[in-house]
Amino acid sequence: MSDSARIEFDGQTFEAEVLTGTEDERALDIRKLRASTGLITYDPGYVNTGSVRSAVTFIDGEQGILRYRGYPIEQLAEHSDFIETSYLLIHGELPTTEQLETFRQQIIHHTLLREDMRPLFDAFPRDAHPMAIMSAATSALSTFYQDHYDPRDPDDIQVSIYRLMAKLPTVAAFAYKKSIGQPYVYPQNSMRFTENFLHMMFAVPAEPYQVDPEVAEALTLLLILHADHEQNCSTSTVRLVGSSQVNIYAAIAAGISALWGPLHGGANQDVVETLLEIRDSDSDTASFVARAKDKNDPFRLPGFGHRVYKNYDPRAKIIKEAADRVISKLVGDDPLFAIARELEDVALSDDYFVERKLYPNVDFYSGLIYRAMGLPLDMFPVLFVLGRLPGWIAQWREMIDDPETRIGRPRQIYDGAGERDYVAIGDRG
Ligand code: ACO
Repeated sequence: MSDSARIEFDGQTFEAEVLTGTEDERALDIRKLRASTGLITYDPGYVNTGSVRSAVTFIDGEQGILRYRGYPIEQLAEHSDFIETSYLLIHGELPTTEQLETFRQQIIHHTLLREDMRPLFDAFPRDAHPMAIMSAATSALSTFYQDHYDPRDPDDIQVSIYRLMAKLPTVAAFAYKKSIGQPYVYPQNSMRFTENFLHMMFAVPAEPYQVDPEVAEALTLLLILHADHEQNCSTSTVRLVGSSQVNIYAAIAAGISALWGPLHGGANQDVVETLLEIRDSDSDTASFVARAKDKNDPFRLPGFGHRVYKNYDPRAKIIKEAADRVISKLVGDDPLFAIARELEDVALSDDYFVERKLYPNVDFYSGLIYRAMGLPLDMFPVLFVLGRLPGWIAQWREMIDDPETRIGRPRQIYDGAGERDYVAIGDRG
C-alpha cells in the first residue's frame, strides 16, 4: 500500500504522507499544505478531518465497535464500575487494587462544595435548565481554586481531576434540589460514587432514604457507556478551548454547553419529549416517521442517526437490554417504552432509514431509564455530563501532554463583500 499521496495544483505537486493508526485507519498529513501550495482544505462539520492522534477511544462505525483504551465496551459494561472505567480512561491502564482505592479515596475526599458556592444556586430562577447551572457552576469552581489550576503543572492537574470528578455530581444534585425547592443534601463519603449521587438527588433531611441497588447498578452502567466517544462535538470543544491553555474548569464548562444541544447530549431529553408527544397525539408512530423523512419538515427522529455509526450503536444495544430489565422492575409496563420499540421497528424497516444507515444511538433508550428512575426530563443531559466527564478529562490531558498540540484555529474561505469605503450615516441610501 502506498504511504504517500500526491495533490497536483497549479503546476505544483504536494506530496502528503499517509499516516496509519493502530486499527489501520489512514489519513493524509496535510500540515504543510498551505505553506507549500497556498491551499487550505474545506470540510464543514470536520467530516473528513482528523484533528488529533489519540490513544483513548477507538470506534469502528461501520461495524459498531467501541473500545476504551482497547477494552471492548461490552466487557467494561459487564465487569467494570464507573470509577475504575474513569481511571482507565484518564490513566490509560486498568488500575491495581491499590491504585483504584487511592483514586476512589481522593474523589470521595473532594465531594463537598465550598459553602460560598451555595448562593450561586439560589441566584438561578427555579425553572433554569440544569445544564446552564452545570456549566456556570463548573466555570465558577475555577474561582475557588485559582492557585491550583495551571494546565502545565502536574500536581495542579491531578487535584483538578479529583475535584471535577468529585464535585460535579454534587453540583448536579444541588441544581436538581434547587429546581424542586428542596433542601440541598450534602455528600455522604461513606457511600460509593453512584449511591452517593442518588442519595444527594432523592434523599430529604426529614427522613431516611435507602438507595435501590438496582437503580444504582443501572446508573453505573449508563455512566460507563457514556464515558468517552473520541472526538465528538463536546470533546472537540473541550480540546479546542483547552488548547488556548485556559484552566481545565473553563474547558469542561465549554464542553457542557456543547453537550446541551439537541443534536448531541440533549437528544435524550428530546427523545422522551417526542415519545410523550406521540402518546398524547392522535397520530401513530408511522406518521412521526413520515415527518422525519419529509425534507420540508424540520423534525428529525431524535435518538436516531450518528456521524460515525453506520450500524447499530453498541451502546444503544446494551441500554435497550438494560431498559427492559430496569423499566419493568421500576414501573412495570411503560407505554413510552412500547412506543419507542415500535418507532424503532417502523424506522428500521423503512427504506429512508435503511439507505442512510440510521440506527438508534445512545440517546434513544437512555432517557426512558432516567425517567423510570424518577428524574425529570431536563436532568437527562446532566446525567450525560457526569458520564462523559472522565472522557473529557482524558482527552484534555492527552491534548496538554501532546507535543504536537497547537492552539486550535481553523481557516476559512472568505465569502463576503470586497474592500469598500466607509460611508457617513447621512450619505447612506
Ligand atoms: N431523522 C431523520 N433523518 C435523519 C436523521 C434523523 N434522526 N439523522 C440523519 N438524517 C438524514 C439527514 O437528513 C440526511 O439525509 P439526506 O442525505 O437526505 O440529506 C442523512 O440522514 C445524513 O444525516 P446528516 O444530518 O448529514 O448526518 P450528520 O452526521 O451531519 O448528523 C446527527 C448526525 C446530528 C446525529 C443526526 O443524525 C441527527 O440529527 N440525529 C438526531 C439527533 C440525535 O439523536 N443526536 C444525538 C447523536 S448521539 C450523541 O451526540 C451523543
